Formats: sequence, C-alpha cells, structure tokens
Amino acid sequence: MTDYLDDPWRVSVDAFPTGDDWSEKALYLIACASLAPSGHNTQPWLFDIGDDWIDLYADRRRALPVIDPDDRELIMSCGAALGTLEIAARRFGYSPQVEFCDSGEDSDRLARVHLAPGEPADDEEQSFFAAITRRRTDRGPFRNSERIGPSLEACRSLAGRFGVDLKPVLAADTKQAIAELVGEANRLQFEDPRFRRELAAWIHSRRLGSRDGISGHALGMPDLLSPIGRLVVRTFDLGDGVAADDQRKIEEGSPALSVLSTHADERDAWLSSGRALARVLLHLTRDGLSHSYLNQPIEVDELRPRVAEAVDLKGHPQLLLRVGKAGQPKPSMRRPLADLIC
Ligand SMILES: Cc1cc2nc3c(=O)[nH]c(=O)nc-3n(C[C@H](O)[C@H](O)[C@H](O)COP(=O)(O)O)c2cc1C
Repeated sequence: MTDYLDDPWRVSVDAFPTGDDWSEKALYLIACASLAPSGHNTQPWLFDIGDDWIDLYADRRRALPVIDPDDRELIMSCGAALGTLEIAARRFGYSPQVEFCDSGEDSDRLARVHLAPGEPADDEEQSFFAAITRRRTDRGPFRNSERIGPSLEACRSLAGRFGVDLKPVLAADTKQAIAELVGEANRLQFEDPRFRRELAAWIHSRRLGSRDGISGHALGMPDLLSPIGRLVVRTFDLGDGVAADDQRKIEEGSPALSVLSTHADERDAWLSSGRALARVLLHLTRDGLSHSYLNQPIEVDELRPRVAEAVDLKGHPQLLLRVGKAGQPKPSMRRPLADLIC
C-alpha cells in the first residue's frame, strides 16, 4: 500500500493512510504533488513537514541556467507541485490555505500550505484528483475535438482565479505566426552549444534506472537509445530539423494553442502561473484532452514580446501549450519520496 513512497505514480485513493499519523498522510500528499510536470522533468522541489502544514522549497540545485536563467520555469514547476498538492489535500477533506513566503526572507522557501480539516470533496474535486495519475505531457500530434473550445473556456476561468490569463488560440493565421516564432526560437536555442549540453544532460533512460529527466521514449525514440539521443543532441545543431518538426506539429497536429500570461513578472506571478497550470492540465485531462508545451519563444528574451504581440496580450507570456485529442503515453519518471524531504 505504501509503494508510492518509492514510486509516486502508485498513489491511489485506497492507499491514503487512515491512521492517526499525520506525517504518513503528509508523505502521501507530497507523493501526489511530485506527479506535477516540471521543466525537463527536473522535479526541482523539496518539502518540509510541520505540525499541520507542509512547506514547499525550490531545489535550485536542479536549475536549468541556460534555458531558464532567472529560475522562472523552475518556480512555475514548483507552483504546479503546489497546485497538485492542494487538489490532493481537498480530495481527502482538508481545507488547504496557501501562504506565499516573503521572497526576501529565504528565497528558497516558497510557500506554506496549512492543512486544517474541511468539507468532504465534491464530485468535481474527486475528478480533478483522479486526473493526477492520468496526466501526461504528450509531444505527438493531436486530433481535433469539439470539446476543446468549451474546455479551454473553463480553463480560462480556472486560471483567472489565480490572476493568470489563459488565452485560447484557434485561428489558423495566429497559430501560423506562433509556429514561425517557435521555429526561430528552436534555431536560436540549438545553435548555442550550452543549450545543447544542458538539454542532453537531462535526457535519461528509465530502463537504465533514472528517476528524473526526459526519457528517449518521451522524445519519440526507444528508451534504451536515450544515451545515443543525448549524444546527438549534445553534438549536432538540430535546430532546423526541430523547427521543421514543430512547425508541422503546429500546422497539422495542434487543433488549439493557448498562452498563459500574468501582469507581473516576478516570483509570486510565476508561482501563481504554476498553480494555475496544475488546474488547467488536470481539467484538460479530465475532459479527455492532451497537452504539451512550445515554450521556446518565451524562453528567448528577444522573442518573448513578439509572442505577446502575436496573440494580442498586454501581460507577460509565461507558458505556451498545445491542446488536442490523442492516446495516453507512458508516465514519465519520478524520484522516490526520500529524495524530496528536507
Ligand atoms: C514550467 C514548465 C516548462 C516546460 N517546458 C517544456 C517545453 O518547453 N517542452 C516540452 O516538451 N516540455 C516542457 N515541459 C514538460 C516537461 O518536460 C514534463 O512535465 C516532464 O518531462 C515530466 O513529464 P510529464 O509532464 O508527462 O509528467 C515543461 C513543464 C513545465 C512545468
């Protein structure tokens, strides 16, 4: 029943500890939180268990200094873990109250989640929880579905509760403009050997025992070829090939895109973006829809304002998602709980 301590994907409703030991319950909730998405699957989070609270820390040893020099995506990843923890806590009748920590005081401690008893979870809250173990980043092509428009509208209002704007992009000409920016960003990123080295360092093989990073399988190659994929990424400038591939994926395999943005562009806005992202992705999963990311033009400083311009945004773009219908890929790797507690 406690298999989830070693492999968090094994959490299930029935495995929730029912005894009096709060720390066992807290570990279960942290296992759920660790199923959140993170940039390059770095899982850059740590947790501390208190009397009736859980603190969330950024683990900056897992930073991506080339692609994410300000830790913006790292903090968003932590925000996604925070949002997932809140959803899990609601499922088991807690009333989670999130307090953001003062950014000056200890820049790695991000938030404290107070966990007092609350009302039992309603059907919607239960369905969000059930989506936690089904959510995947799917980098393959997507089909269209009539559910996409209404689902993205619902996501927009969910994100709005956290001060995050979600803009659905369905028009072909706007998608085309974004595809061009993604292509330009791929070329700029891949021509930088430091970018290639950083990406290669996080391509890991699950079959060879890795518990983090992106497996060859998630990138569309056999998992055991991950070391070869790593070598290729590190050695060759694949920018043109990746750009062409992404362009095709946007034109033919992305019925919708959506941009998450915020007015401010600092730690709390990034944390809120991650919290909103967790809800948005679980809502899409619940609706039978798949997602993946095309953040490259947001990661390149000179292209970021052009993303805002292309979709007519006033705020700062934080994430760019593709949305559509597809199957369900294998789950990505996760670290054991013992590695996540500080
Ligand atoms: C802030 C953030 C940025 C991400 N950026 C990208 C990206 O640019 N390209 C991509 O393919 N995946 C991106 N991802 C997805 C991660 O690679 C993915 O979450 C991770 O590999 C774990 O896989 P999973 O989401 O299936 O659990 C991002 C995720 C987060 C939270």
